[in-house]
Amino acid sequence: MPEPGAGDRLEIVGGAPLRGRVTVSGSKNAALPQMAAALLADGPLRLENVPAIEDVETMCRLLRGLGALVERSQGAVEIDARPVTRTEPDSQLGRRMRASLLLLGPLLASRGSVSLPLPGGDDIGLRRVEQHLEGLRAMGAQVTEDEYGIHARAERLHGAHIQLDLPTVTGTENLLMAASRADGITVISNAAREPHVVDLALCLRAMGARISGAGGDRIVVEGVSRLHAVRHRVRADYIEAGTFAMAVAASGGDALIEELECSDLGQVLHKLRWANCEVEEGGTWLRISRPGQLRAVDMTTWPHPGFATDLQPQYVALMTRAEGQSVISEALFENRFRHVEQLRRLGAEIRIHGRSAMVQGGAPLRGAELACTDIRSGAALVIAGLCAEGTTWLSNVEHLDRGYADLARKLAGLGATLRRWPGDTAPTGAG
Ligand code: EPU
Repeated sequence: MPEPGAGDRLEIVGGAPLRGRVTVSGSKNAALPQMAAALLADGPLRLENVPAIEDVETMCRLLRGLGALVERSQGAVEIDARPVTRTEPDSQLGRRMRASLLLLGPLLASRGSVSLPLPGGDDIGLRRVEQHLEGLRAMGAQVTEDEYGIHARAERLHGAHIQLDLPTVTGTENLLMAASRADGITVISNAAREPHVVDLALCLRAMGARISGAGGDRIVVEGVSRLHAVRHRVRADYIEAGTFAMAVAASGGDALIEELECSDLGQVLHKLRWANCEVEEGGTWLRISRPGQLRAVDMTTWPHPGFATDLQPQYVALMTRAEGQSVISEALFENRFRHVEQLRRLGAEIRIHGRSAMVQGGAPLRGAELACTDIRSGAALVIAGLCAEGTTWLSNVEHLDRGYADLARKLAGLGATLRRWPGDTAPTGAG
């Protein structure tokens, strides 16, 4: 089945500094686990500030396929999972995005079994799942894997002390959701601390779960027998906010970014200031400008509160505009420099050494034909295209649709010149 928007292209005319104001949408990586958490409740979960992106639509379809009643309206999604009897999510939809894995813990804890296709998603590394499975086994589940995917079963889950090898984000979320409905106390050590993990815990607590410590590396969950209907507002997307901040900085512009939690972006704003950007913070807004020359600043990705790997490609694009050489290291994923080859086509000077990219900033960028390979690489190419001389044509933009709500419209609102061409309608000879 072709993905919506497949074949569409973006025409980007570079050179205009981004100016004005832009509003941040709700977080993709917060909304998706919360939608899965609806399976745990004995009443409807109403989520507000849900971003209008393809991954949310895919999760709606996955939940409907299980039998849930799902309604979407103007930024809200209401999910009533009481009619759910099926425990095998649709395999084609499941393979479309990584976040289908988030159905594992909730289906197991609420329905006693689950068969999940091996999740797809961005091709950025091995993306192992053994921490999810070991954690569920420690809680009493029988888990097997075969060529179809993952199968788990448990009459009742029980509390356990789960010591994660590494702070996996969706792993922590799966175990948090499962533990909320298990018998007894679960302790998750070396837990992920990302803002979306905290937001999931807030949503579950509003549903009646007993959770403490989210946002730290040790989360304690006292299981309860039922969770109830609730209304929850999804936290702002700090990855989208960081993407705009870097686009404004790269273009030499000056803009106000609104409706975000500045505290989620601590390390990113620190790097931007070091790189000579002016950043003013007001809690839920920030103003960023880059009055002079950008300075090259090294960066290594790290789990939160470190620099988010989901902003690394955009940071590489930014550093192509800086004076001097920067070294950008990717500590989380084995294969997250696929944007580099595309950036080189624009004229960027970047060499890869293992898990590090060495960027020689300042090389002139000229428009070229590029292709998105995943959500965040796509965002990096848009940023670079906005800084290049002439026109850049970007294909495979359906990757952007998966994670960014209205990206082209929001950037146009900041004065960018870009246009989306459906399917084969782009002018011939373009690029
Ligand atoms: N890992 C293991 N074993 C596991 C789980 C993870 O070795 O059992 C490794 C992975 O192979 C990877 C690293 O740990 O090398 C980090 O993986 P993690 O599990 O934390 O990532 P994820 O949960 O699959 C989420 C986001 C990603 C984001 C990462 C890191 C969602 C739906 N996805 O993925 O977001 O890059 O955390 O912050 O929350 C995106 O939004 O573009 C995106 C890719």
